[in-house]
Amino acid sequence: MVLFDKRILVVGATGMFGQPVAQSLEKFGFNVRVFSRSEQKAKKLFGDGYEIASGDISDIDSLKNALKNCYGVHINLKGGPKQKDYDRIEHKGTAAIVKAASEVGVKRVTYLSGATVSKEQCWFAGTKAKYNAEQAIMRSGLDYTIFRATWFMESLPLFVKGNQASVMGKQPHKLHWLAAEDYARMVSKAYLFDEAANKIFYAFGPEAYTMKEALEIFCGIINPDIKVTMVPLGVLSFFAKITFSKQLKEVLPLMRYFDKTGEQGDPSPTDEIFGAPQITLEQWSKEFHK
Ligand SMILES: NC(=O)c1ccc[n+]([C@@H]2O[C@H](COP(=O)([O-])OP(=O)(O)OC[C@H]3O[C@@H](n4cnc5c(N)ncnc54)[C@H](OP(=O)(O)O)[C@@H]3O)[C@@H](O)[C@H]2O)c1
Repeated sequence: MVLFDKRILVVGATGMFGQPVAQSLEKFGFNVRVFSRSEQKAKKLFGDGYEIASGDISDIDSLKNALKNCYGVHINLKGGPKQKDYDRIEHKGTAAIVKAASEVGVKRVTYLSGATVSKEQCWFAGTKAKYNAEQAIMRSGLDYTIFRATWFMESLPLFVKGNQASVMGKQPHKLHWLAAEDYARMVSKAYLFDEAANKIFYAFGPEAYTMKEALEIFCGIINPDIKVTMVPLGVLSFFAKITFSKQLKEVLPLMRYFDKTGEQGDPSPTDEIFGAPQITLEQWSKEFHK
């Protein structure tokens, strides 16, 4: 149901955290246009209720076409695992989107960044790409709202295989696990509240758990037979070498980074403006299990 005469383009709408944003914007009454390299993939996910624009962030004309008559653009991009791909997709991709957006008269941009992003943490390519993407947004002249979100609950199933859940490394930091639904609601409100403009917000969920604690809660609900074990990063690195596992080799630098780096920032200004996230890990896990 369209309530506002405002169209928002969602880049990366087919992604794990882009889809809930597109759906939430639609529920809030915005006109939502989905941007994807694959029209077929977007149609399968979104059906007929959404406008679909096919294109690629490296093709400026496809971006400009998709951004025409849009009030805002939400950016949900994932780069990597190679260093140059973080920069190419997340930084250069975002810079291209905001350049095209300002050229065709778009007013606002929202962006999913990460809760460890800062100048000091730019030694990791994924963080550097997000930091540079944020800078490109802030220089664009568009009104912006950047969400530095912590770990999402939706990531937990990725660590479970059969009856085994693995914590890669010690992952000692307590993280305020956030449900994508709570985050998506904040993004939607950002287009309605003037006080959300030109700010960076830390988005944290209601409770803090280490990765092991979070996996224990999640697995305890979906299947108590799942064993949660901690696997040292050195062992995983050796295993990746002898098995030639490309997937494991690619994920290890990310897990090494998060082993060293916890979430930063203060979510209270976010909660004041948007309302604090309510979905607990237990509630989310029960819903996931249904
Ligand atoms: N996991 C967490 O807990 C967490 C926490 C905070 C922040 N984040 C960040 O959230 C971001 C999004 O993650 P995600 O899991 O939603 O990613 P994802 O599922 O891999 O989705 C990425 C999206 O990027 C789009 N895309 C990639 N290359 C493109 C290109 N050349 N042109 C147009 N679109 C392109 C894809 O669209 P098409 O394939 O449809 O073209 C896809 O929808 C990441 O940067 C991640 O670091 C994650």
